Amino acid sequence: MTDLVLLERPAEGVVLLRINRPEARNALNLEVRKLLAKHLAELGEDTTTRAIVLTGNEKSFAAGADIKEMAGLGTIEALQRGVHKLWRAIAGCPKPVIAAVSGYALGGGCELAMTCDIIVAGESARFGQPEVNIGIIPGGGGTQRLTRAVGKYKAMKYILTGEMFSANEAFDMGLVSEVVPDPEVEGRAIDLARQIAVLPPLAVQLAKEAVLAGMEAPLSSALALEVKSSQILFSSQDQKEGMRAFIEKRKPRFTGH
Ligand code: CAA
Repeated sequence: MTDLVLLERPAEGVVLLRINRPEARNALNLEVRKLLAKHLAELGEDTTTRAIVLTGNEKSFAAGADIKEMAGLGTIEALQRGVHKLWRAIAGCPKPVIAAVSGYALGGGCELAMTCDIIVAGESARFGQPEVNIGIIPGGGGTQRLTRAVGKYKAMKYILTGEMFSANEAFDMGLVSEVVPDPEVEGRAIDLARQIAVLPPLAVQLAKEAVLAGMEAPLSSALALEVKSSQILFSSQDQKEGMRAFIEKRKPRFTGH
């Protein structure tokens, strides 16, 4: 097992995954992508993990796909690499994933952040979809997730020019959840994860599912999914505990059942 993705447990119920290729600005080579997909699939099944933080280092969250690894590829090799399946595995994690973005989040790095549920960015973080500069287009969801997050005209500007944008611009466009001073990025993401980790996991999971599935559905179907998910939770012990604790003016003890 390589150490290209490090796994840490900074708080109870919280796992931090750290991309660890500093010499390549955390470029996402196939090995890193496979490790991310593997860890997220395993953590998705692990009942002790309630929230995940995904981060890089202070210079770079991830500088995109590994250009050196891709440069000589033909169409068939590109297809056989199956990167799209790894993206699906990463985006399919049922647990909340928080991106803690410092430095560069470019190309596949920006796309990786956009597969997360919450994005915390340091004030000097730089985002962008620069693929057009090297003769390709985003291939990990950039043309779709960025457009859905910020709207056609801003997405077009950045995808067609390849220009980078700042954390504050990203925040103003609705692409990031919070901008914090650079040294606080990881700590703030862990605090948010810790906050989520003590909540009833079934409610958290169904809330994530309703938001994501709802974004792809017509409003009436999305509302139907929401109401069914909400009704399903009335069979959980945690719903009984949460409401009883409120009425008895005490802290709830959630078990995940
Ligand atoms: N792939 C491979 N290597 C990369 C890389 C990448 N995406 N980004 C950086 N590196 C490597 C550099 O080649 C360099 O290696 P050497 O020391 O061996 O020369 C090392 O990381 C340090 O990089 P820089 O010297 O360039 O560092 P910098 O701080 O001056 O600049 C940067 C940082 C702005 C991120 C710059 O490296 C850069 O522009 N990187 C490429 C960004 C990019 O185009 N990303 C999109 C990739 S395509 C994609 O993601 C496709 C997709 O979705 C399908």
